[in-house]
Amino acid sequence: MIKTAILTMSDKGSKGERIDVTGPSIRSAIENNGFVIEYYKIIPDELEMIVDELKYLCDELKVDLVFTNGGTGFSQRDVTPEATQMVIQKYVPGIGEAMRLKSLEITPKAMLSRAIAGIRNKTLIVNLPGSPKAAIENLEVIMPALPHGIEILI
Ligand code: MTE
Repeated sequence: MIKTAILTMSDKGSKGERIDVTGPSIRSAIENNGFVIEYYKIIPDELEMIVDELKYLCDELKVDLVFTNGGTGFSQRDVTPEATQMVIQKYVPGIGEAMRLKSLEITPKAMLSRAIAGIRNKTLIVNLPGSPKAAIENLEVIMPALPHGIEILI
């Protein structure tokens, strides 16, 4: 069982002005596939809040895997990759490369996601883009490799 956290970055969602569709979509895509959702939260696109949440999930809750969703694009408020970069100790470039490579077969807009992945202690953090469609398409690319990656991380 892979202990998993889902962290949705959404200014409107965090204020209750928009229902988060992507977080629950990720949950239903991975649950019953060996992943257990231990934590799910919506927070605004604030660098320091994202850093604090990621540290909490890795250092205190000690989940195996964190999926962030949203905040990987070009808007001024998109800072999820920067927050991730601040907390990881090792980059896992292949995950971002694979997501963009396969997603480019679906849409040229895939190159607009700046998503990264990396390891902090024994936790793998993966950025997914924010729309449910984009998040699930990216997730499907990496899912087959994740259990082995987590297994050797522990
Ligand atoms: N990847 C896939 N597979 N499918 C998509 O529709 N949308 C792209 C990209 N990646 C997309 C995708 C778009 S339009 C953007 S702007 C970026 O992800 C960043 O999304 P975010 O800002 O919601 O994180």
